Amino acid sequence: MDSFVIEGGTPVQGEVAISGSKNAALPILCSSILADDTCTYQKIPDLRDIRTIIEVLSNLGMQVSGVDESCVLIEPTQITSQEAPYELVKSMRASILVLGPLLAKYGKAKVSLPGGCAIGVRPIDMHLKGLAKMGAEINLSHGYVVASAKQLKGARIVFDKPTVGGTENIMMAATLAKGTTVIEGAAKEPEVVDLADALTRMGAHISGAGSSTVSVEGVKSLTGLEYEVIPDRIETGTFIAAAAITHGQLMITGVRHDLIVSVVEKLRETGVIIKEIGQGKLFVDGRCEIRPIDVVTAPYPGFPTDMQAQIMALSCIGVGVSSITETIFENRFMHVPELMRMGANLEEKGTTVIVRGIKQFQGASVMATDLRASASMVLAALNAKGLTEIRRIYHLDRGYEELDMKLKSIGARVERIRGDL
Ligand code: EPZ
Repeated sequence: MDSFVIEGGTPVQGEVAISGSKNAALPILCSSILADDTCTYQKIPDLRDIRTIIEVLSNLGMQVSGVDESCVLIEPTQITSQEAPYELVKSMRASILVLGPLLAKYGKAKVSLPGGCAIGVRPIDMHLKGLAKMGAEINLSHGYVVASAKQLKGARIVFDKPTVGGTENIMMAATLAKGTTVIEGAAKEPEVVDLADALTRMGAHISGAGSSTVSVEGVKSLTGLEYEVIPDRIETGTFIAAAAITHGQLMITGVRHDLIVSVVEKLRETGVIIKEIGQGKLFVDGRCEIRPIDVVTAPYPGFPTDMQAQIMALSCIGVGVSSITETIFENRFMHVPELMRMGANLEEKGTTVIVRGIKQFQGASVMATDLRASASMVLAALNAKGLTEIRRIYHLDRGYEELDMKLKSIGARVERIRGDL
């Protein structure tokens, strides 16, 4: 297992480009199952999770090829199986997003239950209830969801709380259902909107994506498409935090300002200067004292849970007392003990962590536990006095494209140490 060794204390400087969004690409690649001909996708980031979903789609019999470093071409019509096996799904729970499309297009699906992950149980009950409401027969058997439906029918589906994956699965299933489906309490995340835009380009009839009520009028079939996914808003926030925590200056390109309003607002509260420059550029000046902040994660457009660990790392070097409250996942503080090993003064109180500012992190050996926790350790290491070794960096490779190369290109002292498997 690879690890990073980082020598902290160097302000980042220069320019870095944001990759395509992992959480937009994953459902959009799954939506190719619905297409009657070739789908070409641009700005697909080269990540472990993307390679896993491509393996799941290839395992269904679809022809998937990488045209160049960020373009993926899918021929969906050669599909020979409707099964997503445990070996693949266990390593990437978003594989459950093939369920809706398979049911809608082929009337059957056998998808391994994703199981929990480090940050929580992460059930899929709302996905399954919604599909059942659309007429699917759903059975759980030996760790698999075994589903069938002669013809899905439109239904009114009410989510008791927003679910990004649930909204995406139902939206995809509804595109080929008979009649109209209305999703009340839908997730409003930009990745849901990006999926809706891609489906619309394939001929789907969707309205209200990005609001809490999404309506989908079923159609007979969907064509292929050419599509470019949105930039990764969480990678963007992570690099803003990198400039802030190292008191550096950074130009970030390929940014969609409208997707990161709550993140920029909260980071500006720390005193960091963030200037929106036209054509998708953001200039960050972190040469300031970090002021204390209070953060409560929330569904979009609130402060994203996927930035919680990163902003906690930044607030650790702030003056005064900050508070970070996690409201989405039940176990998303795995980075707390690791940050404390690096000298952070943190006190967990239920769903809130109280952060008392320290001057600077101390380098230490730490262990990555989940994707965004490992990002927070990288940020802490960039600030730290001395060397930090972060083990199990495969967590990071799931969601950040060539992070070590990108950090090196802006002056950070990062080495990837290749470990044995
Ligand atoms: C998506 O996960 C993202 N992943 C997550 O990003 C992100 O943290 C999350 O949305 C919240 O924004 C992808 O898009 C691939 P949810 P998802 O369904 O869809 C509960 C990252 O770091 N829930 O919106 O799985 C669930 O347990 C990852 O990139 C049910 O109870 O999240 C959670 O508490 C991590 N029943 C809450 O809802 C269900 O049927 C929100 O989950 C579904 C969800």
